[in-house]
Amino acid sequence: MNVRKRVAMVGLGGQATSDHLPGLAQCRLAELAGVCDVDADRVAAVSEAHRIPGFTEVERLLKEVRPDFVIVAVPHHAGRQIIASCAEAGVHVMKEKPFAIDPHEADELAALCVKSGIELMVTVQRRFHPVYPAALGLLEQIGAPYLVEGRYTFHCPDPTAGWRGRAQLAGGGCLADMGYHLIDLLIWYLGLPDRVLADTSAAAAPGAEYDAEDTALVHLAYDSGLYGSLLVSRSAGPKSERLAITGPHGTLVVERGMVRLLDPTGQVVESLVREPAWPCPPAGLIDRFCRVLDGTALNPSGPAEHLPHVTLLAAAYVSDATNRPANPKEFLA
Ligand SMILES: NC(=O)c1ccc[n+]([C@@H]2O[C@H](COP(=O)([O-])OP(=O)(O)OC[C@H]3O[C@@H](n4cnc5c(N)ncnc54)[C@H](O)[C@@H]3O)[C@@H](O)[C@H]2O)c1
Repeated sequence: MNVRKRVAMVGLGGQATSDHLPGLAQCRLAELAGVCDVDADRVAAVSEAHRIPGFTEVERLLKEVRPDFVIVAVPHHAGRQIIASCAEAGVHVMKEKPFAIDPHEADELAALCVKSGIELMVTVQRRFHPVYPAALGLLEQIGAPYLVEGRYTFHCPDPTAGWRGRAQLAGGGCLADMGYHLIDLLIWYLGLPDRVLADTSAAAAPGAEYDAEDTALVHLAYDSGLYGSLLVSRSAGPKSERLAITGPHGTLVVERGMVRLLDPTGQVVESLVREPAWPCPPAGLIDRFCRVLDGTALNPSGPAEHLPHVTLLAAAYVSDATNRPANPKEFLA
């Protein structure tokens, strides 16, 4: 008997091609049942290769395929309508980050999920990787944190390209896009800051038409006295991904697939490494969502968990526009 959940993939661009479609092939609990993209050529290529139905309208896909859930990997501005259509059809959603592009949309979608009874899980891979929860377990060993330093950078050849180059379509720039992962770790480990002061720039490609920042620096402060910063850039290499949290008894350093505990002089006390760092994250994530739907696993990345992310982003963009600190908590509904 086939007990696998039937999944439809909506959005057949980079993330679907590199992660979700190969990941689905390795899933034990789910199988691909249909695909959808506004680009008919992409639909034709994938539906032919997988011998499954393809659509250019999500409503038709939902009606004709009747999947158990949908994986949504579309430009950020297109997410809202697709989630609303899934809610209307009572179909669960695994949503590529970000959950929403602003606090208003996040509130609206969170309420819609509750009302329609659908489960929604945002794919922030680090939540499902064994090293990152382990880091949370080690955090208490450094004492009360007083400093946090986050950095996530890489050089993409064209930071101006496509929907990512336009703030309105992407809900921001690198901070809302790749920075979402760093923000997720920050909020998971330390909670929502009480003040942010942000500067952003779209200056890496002089003369090009784009307004979504390629680089952002966000200063963070908590009422507890903890402070620090996040630096995110998709134009400035080298590739780096690091969050360091310091307290009186040492520093916790979280890097890609690795966590180290340092003593106050910087000597390594202990470390945890996963090798390979990312064996096949999408397959694990998709199978996990199947278990969430069966009621045998918890969803650590639902709408409520992501409201703070969206408010931090909103506060950072307001701070950048006004040159003043902003309190993310004031952006919570
Ligand atoms: N978790 C990660 O590490 C990670 C990495 C890369 C991208 N992403 C996320 O994945 C999502 C997609 O990013 P991408 O890099 O694949 O973008 P992309 O531009 O490569 O692909 C997006 C696809 O969506 C299609 N599309 C646009 N509007 C649509 C609609 N209304 N209905 C159906 N299809 C539509 C486009 O035609 C395109 O094929 C984004 O949310 C992004 O943040 C996550």
